[in-house]
Amino acid sequence: MKTKQPQDLFKNIAEMVDSVADLDNLLSVLVIATKRVLNAKASSLLLKDQPSGKLYFHSCIGDRREDITKFELAKGEGIAGWVAERGEPVLAPDVSKDPRWSSKIADTLGFKTHSIACAPLKVESETFGVLEIIDRLDEEPLNEEDMERLQSFSDLVAGLLLKARVYVEVSKENRMLKEALGGKYEIIGESTVILKAIDSCRKAAPSKATTLITGESGTGKELFARLLHDLSPRSDKPMISINCGALPETLLERELFGHEKGAFTGADELKPGLFEAADGSTIFLDEIGETSQAMQVKLLRVLQEGTFFRLGGQELINVDVRVVAASNKTLEKLVEQGTFREDLFYRLNVIRIELPPLRERGDDLKSIADSFLQKFNAELNRSVKGITDEAMTAMINYSWPGNIRQLENSIERAVIMGESDRIGIEDLSAEITEFKKSSIKVGAGLKEAMDDFKREFIKKTLLFCGGNKTKAAKTLGIQRTYLSRLIKELSVE
Ligand SMILES: Nc1ncnc2c1ncn2[C@@H]1O[C@H](COP(=O)(O)OP(=O)(O)OP(=O)(O)O)[C@@H](O)[C@H]1O
Ligand SMILES: [Mg+2]
Repeated sequence: MKTKQPQDLFKNIAEMVDSVADLDNLLSVLVIATKRVLNAKASSLLLKDQPSGKLYFHSCIGDRREDITKFELAKGEGIAGWVAERGEPVLAPDVSKDPRWSSKIADTLGFKTHSIACAPLKVESETFGVLEIIDRLDEEPLNEEDMERLQSFSDLVAGLLLKARVYVEVSKENRMLKEALGGKYEIIGESTVILKAIDSCRKAAPSKATTLITGESGTGKELFARLLHDLSPRSDKPMISINCGALPETLLERELFGHEKGAFTGADELKPGLFEAADGSTIFLDEIGETSQAMQVKLLRVLQEGTFFRLGGQELINVDVRVVAASNKTLEKLVEQGTFREDLFYRLNVIRIELPPLRERGDDLKSIADSFLQKFNAELNRSVKGITDEAMTAMINYSWPGNIRQLENSIERAVIMGESDRIGIEDLSAEITEFKKSSIKVGAGLKEAMDDFKREFIKKTLLFCGGNKTKAAKTLGIQRTYLSRLIKELSVE
């Protein structure tokens, strides 16, 4: 029997990866595997940023990894930089004898390094980064055989990167956008949901397909609509935005479709509408769920045929507009209730980007809060180091009706007002710290009250864990089978 080559296996794995988040995790796992299989003291994956040519750490395993990942290497710096530039592997059994060796990281961290093996991550003829290992656990210098095995790992990682080329591009584009537009337009995103949304925008960007972005207030719908537009070939023209919920129907109609001279009293001259202004660009129809039935019919027509009449006009106007719509109401529900046309819904829902509420994104909250903390530290020239466990617990238990916007404001306030080097409970508003969803009612038996509590508690924990029962059971400190039983017995939704 022919055994499967690792390359084949990894090709299969690569095919299973279909999101940025999966890929990120998989790359990290591969870095761990490299270290284990090669019995090395440390292993790291560095990716190249373009066009600067800098190398930054994607993941790193071994002592001091948290400190190490903060480093960046300038173009061509050190052995890793050399490998990334030349695309050739380097084995340095004794780094002190290799003139390419840069001791910057080792010196800063007091991290002794004797030998290094570093392999390029090559996709076609382009080098995306490097995979390297430092020192063997048995203290022997790294040898040719280690180098060969490292090389096969790096080929596998490169295969994944080929699949994920797009990902490298997204993170690059995202970074470029951030730089181009300054702090104002920064998508904070290490969390799964945000990376997925960025990835969806990237995939949806090249086409003209109508895109529907849904999510509660403050989840970033507009931010992602902008990203989608900015990543699209239409980005040389500005995106036109309109809040359909803010205007009465007649005004909205005039705004969107424009009017001819004399179309109504006061229409002294011809005025093109926003659909015309958005010709060749994107129109963002915010709060689309608020539009009237009559307006929905007109929108449907534009979506189906790309044509419309100006108010009072006879001439059919043709436009090339990409429509991105957003709603903080569940359009499916509005369709069920009969207030939103089903045909329009399907026309809008060609590509769907869903931004879940913050309270359902347990783990994300922490990373987003930390990112905001860093952002405001930089903006306000402060050096708040972190968030106390107590404050974090209060934040996790809060319901965040205003989602990311509210979290952003809360962190900003805490950074401005706080007096200690960590955000504590005293720096958060009473709304957050005193939030208790109490369902205690007197008059019920103890068993009933306890069941109520258990039901609520399990439900919240499940939400916190993104619906993942294994994770929820772990958080609750019970067996998964027991959790399943409780869910059934208590009829947890
Ligand atoms: N991922 C994110 N990273 C950084 N900031 C974010 C993120 N998501 C949202 N924000 C910020 O939160 C605020 C609200 O975002 P946005 O206006 O896009 O939300 P929205 O869903 O359109 O809200 P609404 O329904 O209230 O109009 C903005 O200040 C935005 O910059
Ligand atoms: Mg909005």
